[in-house]
Amino acid sequence: MSLERIVKPHIRELAPYEPGKPPEELERELGIEGAIKLASNESPIGPSPLAIAAVREALASAHRYPDGACFDLRAALARRFAIGEQQLVFGCGADEILELVAKAFLGAGDEAVFAWPSFAMYPIVVKGMGATPVLVPLDGALVHDLDAMRAVITKQTRVVFVCNPNNPTGTSVGADAFDAFVRSLPAELVLVVDEAYREYARRPDFPDAIAWTARRPGTIVMRTFSKIYGLAGLRVGYGICDPELADYLNRARHPFNVNRLAAAAALAALDDEAHAERSRRVNAEGVEYLTRELGALGVEVWPTDANFLLVRAGEGIFDKLQREGVIVRPLAGFGMPDCIRISIGLPEENERLVKTLARLRGKSV
Ligand SMILES: Cc1ncc(COP(=O)(O)O)c(C=O)c1O
Repeated sequence: MSLERIVKPHIRELAPYEPGKPPEELERELGIEGAIKLASNESPIGPSPLAIAAVREALASAHRYPDGACFDLRAALARRFAIGEQQLVFGCGADEILELVAKAFLGAGDEAVFAWPSFAMYPIVVKGMGATPVLVPLDGALVHDLDAMRAVITKQTRVVFVCNPNNPTGTSVGADAFDAFVRSLPAELVLVVDEAYREYARRPDFPDAIAWTARRPGTIVMRTFSKIYGLAGLRVGYGICDPELADYLNRARHPFNVNRLAAAAALAALDDEAHAERSRRVNAEGVEYLTRELGALGVEVWPTDANFLLVRAGEGIFDKLQREGVIVRPLAGFGMPDCIRISIGLPEENERLVKTLARLRGKSV
């Protein structure tokens, strides 16, 4: 029996998210050793030792269900951001927050607006609810075109995503443009400000999106422990919003969506500011090194506020790098076949990328 006739048409038509290939898989395929992955915007320095210790301790209670409300983590984040504890909602990664918003606010006939290219999960969660994605091209500098996004908002628009800094470009919008955009929005739609990479941003006028959650109910700011805190494998993300919105999202949420180990690790990671600072520094140094060295190879590099670089390195370069054991992110799926996204690695990984790319381009470094 085929299920094709009964599966929901909007699910049948979904193209699954394609994650970066794990290095071990590439090593098996090519029969090589020492492949490196600069593809998924993970922290190259790994988790805080305090987070590792907290996970070990939490393991002893693994037979107990986790605290569905993430009590300790909630209190710590409320203190950190000077917000109410009821303003937080937790997810199995920020990805789940996206799903909760989609589940709570989108259905057939509804529209969700977002920039493109941007995070590949937006169209997936929107289409997954049978709603219609409305893609608005980035401007010439590959920055969100907020005026154009405002112009496509209709009575059917329920959700708007703003990815700041934007994945896969690393570009960001500043406070003036962002504030004007938020002010212009109708009250009856949910604005999702995806700040997965916020902690890396260096521009001094980066918007204070969290402040908008008090001024504009229906605004949710998403953050994650997957990036600067190095806990991508444990899956913890959160949203900051007004209590009414948090309440609706919590109704849509599975009760034990953040597991014990993840919650313990996140709490400990939050306490290790020195580790987060190291992560930020390694990233900033890597950005500087790669921007300089790739520029010297004649490769176009966009400025970034995140932990990755958008690079125009020529068509076919993704496959060639992969054959050399260097995994980056291809952007052909975004209509940018001559571009790749490179996650910032450890200094030796960045150097290997530069040397490999130089060799492939017939230059020596
Ligand atoms: C812009 C953006 N938002 C959200 C996420 C999801 O993060 P998480 O690992 O917390 O699910 C990512 C992950 O790469 C991302 O790039």
